[in-house]
Amino acid sequence: MSDHARKLLHQHAKTTQLLGVDFHPLGNPPQIQFAVAPQSQQQDQNTQTEHNSKSESFVEPKPVRDFAPTPASSPRPAMPTIDTASIRASYESLKDPQAKLDALKEKYTADAPHAAFNTNFTNIVFGEGSPTADLMFVGEAPGQQEDETGRPFVGRAGELLDKMIIAMGLSRESVYIANVLKTRPPNNATPTVNEAHLCAPYLIEQIRIISPKVIVTLGLPATHLLLATTQPMRSMRGQFHPFPSPPFADAGLPSIDLMPTYHPAFLLRAYTEDNRRKVWSDLTQVIERLGLSKP
Ligand code: URA
Repeated sequence: MSDHARKLLHQHAKTTQLLGVDFHPLGNPPQIQFAVAPQSQQQDQNTQTEHNSKSESFVEPKPVRDFAPTPASSPRPAMPTIDTASIRASYESLKDPQAKLDALKEKYTADAPHAAFNTNFTNIVFGEGSPTADLMFVGEAPGQQEDETGRPFVGRAGELLDKMIIAMGLSRESVYIANVLKTRPPNNATPTVNEAHLCAPYLIEQIRIISPKVIVTLGLPATHLLLATTQPMRSMRGQFHPFPSPPFADAGLPSIDLMPTYHPAFLLRAYTEDNRRKVWSDLTQVIERLGLSKP
């Protein structure tokens, strides 16, 4: 067997191990470098690479949209005025949280905020999981497989998210998984600020109904939207942030601890032990905050 073939086999075995059910970081420093993204994709995490998390392939081209990379000091554009009262009215009279979420989805479908920027999708991917979950994950937007199935995080990034959830000692059914955008952006593009703002009120109402104790934002679009910041991920992750804060502070939401972390699709592209360790450290804090014992 050639050295190259042996190295590939070794990498494959290592990647399989790392992608295995135990998501925990390995104790020892890695002996090999993983064949992950091409150099051009391995930028700092606060750049476009990290933003475009929906790429399920390592080599998928990443269209540049106006979400990224914003200097940390730039102000975020103001939220548009949206009639949130009518959105709330769509479900408020209902008692059952799942019925509320269903009614909210109907309202979203009728309002179709995505029609302003995207009519090229198959299914609305509203979110799924326990309507009373203590833990809610918020991703960016559906990718191809999510668009085909109408379910969030079912592609490669979703497989890794599932493993992360299992490693936390939880199940996919016990958490709630949503996205900032509910429809797949054309060409898998990263949501623009404007697109995120148009869909934000529906995410906010999902959060209100579910009322989780902790939100984990996966990647920058969700983190930037919910914390109204333009800070890079490296300065946001690893610590809890109070939510809601402006501009959502007056929305009457319960107090929730928000932990930003890297998007699983970013992790797949930059599958270094360092990144993996950081994500696991973020998730470990979440486990503790939820009062669960470390698996
Ligand atoms: N990436 C996301 O941000 N959300 C999904 O649902 C799938 C991939």
